[in-house]
Amino acid sequence: MASEVKTVVVTGGSSGLGLAMAERFRKGGWYVVIVSRKERENLPCDRFYSCDLTSVDDRRKLIKRMIDDGLNINVWINNAGIGVYALCEEISNADLRNIMELNYFAPVELSMEILPVLQKNNGSLVQICSIASLMPLCCMSAYSSGKSALWMFNESLRMETDVHCLTVMPGRIDTGFSSRAVKKREVPDTPGNRSTSPDGLAEKVFHAVLKRRKRLIYPFWYRYVVAVSRCFPGITRKMSRKIWNLGDKN
Ligand SMILES: NC(=O)c1ccc[n+]([C@@H]2O[C@H](COP(=O)([O-])OP(=O)(O)OC[C@H]3O[C@@H](n4cnc5c(N)ncnc54)[C@H](OP(=O)(O)O)[C@@H]3O)[C@@H](O)[C@H]2O)c1
Repeated sequence: MASEVKTVVVTGGSSGLGLAMAERFRKGGWYVVIVSRKERENLPCDRFYSCDLTSVDDRRKLIKRMIDDGLNINVWINNAGIGVYALCEEISNADLRNIMELNYFAPVELSMEILPVLQKNNGSLVQICSIASLMPLCCMSAYSSGKSALWMFNESLRMETDVHCLTVMPGRIDTGFSSRAVKKREVPDTPGNRSTSPDGLAEKVFHAVLKRRKRLIYPFWYRYVVAVSRCFPGITRKMSRKIWNLGDKN
């Protein structure tokens, strides 16, 4: 019966991690809806919505359009996001507000708009945060603070609701993400920059949704990086400064 097919919405599902997640859910027999600004050819979805998620008006209209179109959403994945590589002092107020709009306000507001539907469907809400939500790094303050705030939002929401809230913390994954970031500096080429492909993350997210897991760090070994950063913040600081050629300052 058609009503047994479940529906997933993936924001930013037209490339990178979002595309891989859309493909994985489609392979699992789900009805897949992708949201991004530009539609691309051969997207693995049953329905596409064009929306600039930095616009408060457009994202309100988006949810209304979906409900008017009769979508019965079971899983909502807030994945659209943008990277930032700049010292704190190099980020303009305009850039900061734009970054926070996409990386924090959009997923939070979309979550609250869609929550009643997920509640009714015993559904899942997924926030794609970042390993940078868990540790400070040079040249990533605007990114880390937005993703960290999103992580805390999801953890708090989980305490207040019976909707399944999954927080995903990817490490560096090869999607070309850094080439589309707001950049005031060239991103240094470290081994982490060319690490993992998006398909492994998509597989883990798919199963974490089915098993109603709370948190997912991917790849697994990043949890040790976070532990080192918590226990030995001086080492992380030194390494992060070295990677970005910021000198040996105390
Ligand atoms: N790749 C990594 O290493 C990594 C690590 C940790 C966390 N993450 C997080 O994972 C998520 C996906 O990253 P990714 O690497 O897959 O990035 P990506 O390849 O650059 O994909 C970003 C997606 O978001 C959409 N998007 C961007 N701006 C938008 C806007 N204003 N409104 C609507 N859609 C917009 C893009 O489509 P359009 O351009 O057509 O709008 C695209 O589909 C992000 O939240 C990122 O912070 C990535």
